Amino acid sequence: MVNVGIIGYGTVGSGVFEVINTNRQSIAIKAGEEIKVKRICDLRDMPGDPAEKLITHDFNDILNDDEISVVVETMGGTKPAYDFVKLAIEAGKSVCTSNKELVAKYGAGLIKLAKEKNVNFLFEASVGGGIPVIRPLNYSLTAEEIIEIQGILNGTTNYILTKMDKEGLDYDTVLKEAQAMGYAERNPSADVDGYDSGRKIAILTSLAYGKQVDFEDIPVEGISRITKEDMEYAKSLDATIKLIGESKKDGGVVYARVAPVMLSRNQPLHSVEDVFNAVLIKGNMVDDVMFYGRGAGKLPTASAVVADVVEAVRNKDRHLDINWDEEKLTLGDIRQYKQ
Ligand code: HSE
Repeated sequence: MVNVGIIGYGTVGSGVFEVINTNRQSIAIKAGEEIKVKRICDLRDMPGDPAEKLITHDFNDILNDDEISVVVETMGGTKPAYDFVKLAIEAGKSVCTSNKELVAKYGAGLIKLAKEKNVNFLFEASVGGGIPVIRPLNYSLTAEEIIEIQGILNGTTNYILTKMDKEGLDYDTVLKEAQAMGYAERNPSADVDGYDSGRKIAILTSLAYGKQVDFEDIPVEGISRITKEDMEYAKSLDATIKLIGESKKDGGVVYARVAPVMLSRNQPLHSVEDVFNAVLIKGNMVDDVMFYGRGAGKLPTASAVVADVVEAVRNKDRHLDINWDEEKLTLGDIRQYKQ
């Protein structure tokens, strides 16, 4: 029996509890032993929730419990998530997280620490929610020189742009509707201003080239200035506008950016609609491979976290190496990049 502690019982954390319980038997077969959630750390009491009895408000109840060997971090943000994750790894526990802020900023250092402690730090859910993209990039595509990554990495903005395209609505109207439906946050800046996509392309680019790409170095433009007229113009050319996070390597230099881009109908990311995400990776041998699916949401994201938990359990005495050093990768000036 493997005991798991969850820190942060919001949408994804409660999804992790649900996935582990719903698929308990098949997960046990694949992991080689049963996986059980033992404690959940959250500020709230969660009365009436199926996990109510597992709730603690004190992270030490997870940290100091020697029976808990895997910690799931689904709090979001870096404070206090970074301290909690670091303490858990130092205590010899593997950590699985969906937290892109944490991974973009501290991923390389936490991988190094996990290596020293012979445990695992895994973060499949931090980019593309339920879409497998971190593990394929790190393992399946390991023989490749990565030439280009292009992704629709944010469901909220893709939903807004799809509605603007299909229904001819303006940005503000669709944003309000997306907020009312719970797709967009009340403060939607991280999504609509492109920062969420920026962190995700920083993670993918770091993994592709094995060095630290700082999110702050990536030029980011969001979608809030896209007008109804821009979209009509794109449509008149049989194209659409998508928020694209991309990086490419040319002449030994890596370039990266997030920006709204006009895509013609024959481009693979054109048909990715609503809250769906997709990542297109070009390798020098394999050429294009594309990953598509639900980039956000409770169960898809939780599924990716639980897959990491299974991977940690299968490799409990072995650190799974991830090609991402703390050494910084200096990006080229994207304005000088010529297609
Ligand atoms: N706010 C994000 C999105 C959630 O809309 O895609 C997943 O990171």
